[in-house]
Amino acid sequence: MSDLPDYTQRLGEPVLSLRGISKNFGAVSALTDIELDVHAGEVVALVGDNGAGKSTLVKILAGVHQPSSGVIRFNGQEVALGSPADALNLGIATVFQDLALCENLDVVANIYLGREQEPWRLDEVAMEVRAWTLLNELSARIPSVREPVASLSGGQRQTVAIARSLLLEPKLIMLDEPTAALGVAQTAEVLNLIERVRARGLGVIMISHNMEDVRAVADRIVVLRLGRNSGVFTPEDSNHELVAAITGASENAVSRRMNRKQASEAMQ
Ligand SMILES: Nc1ncnc2c1ncn2[C@@H]1O[C@H](COP(=O)(O)OP(=O)(O)O)[C@@H](O)[C@H]1O
Ligand SMILES: [Mg+2]
Repeated sequence: MSDLPDYTQRLGEPVLSLRGISKNFGAVSALTDIELDVHAGEVVALVGDNGAGKSTLVKILAGVHQPSSGVIRFNGQEVALGSPADALNLGIATVFQDLALCENLDVVANIYLGREQEPWRLDEVAMEVRAWTLLNELSARIPSVREPVASLSGGQRQTVAIARSLLLEPKLIMLDEPTAALGVAQTAEVLNLIERVRARGLGVIMISHNMEDVRAVADRIVVLRLGRNSGVFTPEDSNHELVAAITGASENAVSRRMNRKQASEAMQ
């Protein structure tokens, strides 16, 4: 496990900083005392077993759930994310796992979905140009922005969903299992896309079960276990350490050692 002081100093102030975030659903403690920092131009992978609290944390940052306690700082300011609109307006974008695209609409229409109020929404040509520009900047391989989303591959859909979330120029983007449904080539495409998003200077939080993908793209790996922080790693750290943090094996090993120590002390 690394504390990474040099690394985080080099990155400067975090764009997002969580301290002591807890969330209770009635008697269930989904999150307890979570700390998390994300810097501009950094990909942080959020990993952990089912029930670790990953989705709850993302929903808090997306303004879907409100924390029971704790502080959220964004761009150096303490913020309250009372609704999804609050999060979006501050510059926190979320690509949920289901992507929420409309199959029958084309790429341009999907990128502009839900932005009907904005003045340029009315100008089809401007919308198409902006959609193309955005996809080009991301080096996205979409054959035509006038294709219905139904005809696109899983990787291309993920690309459209990410492009859509970049339209409001967020400072932080959260991706929930962006490669879960994808084959090898499409996964590589999406990982490249994540690198492009990072190169634009965004902070990225990526939830993933796939350790290979995590290692390929993450700058830091934050492990949650049973709703608590369970270590911060780099992609260079061993798989053994990472798995131990995810499963709690390291705790068990420590408590076994403690028990042996106590037992041997008791015998003396
Ligand atoms: N809306 C909810 N009501 C009650 N309990 C919830 C709710 N959402 C999540 N939980 C509980 O919070 C814990 C963390 O869940 P979750 O955030 O979904 O974990 P993960 O995404 O890492 O699998 C689990 O014990 C889950 O049952
Ligand atoms: Mg989840």
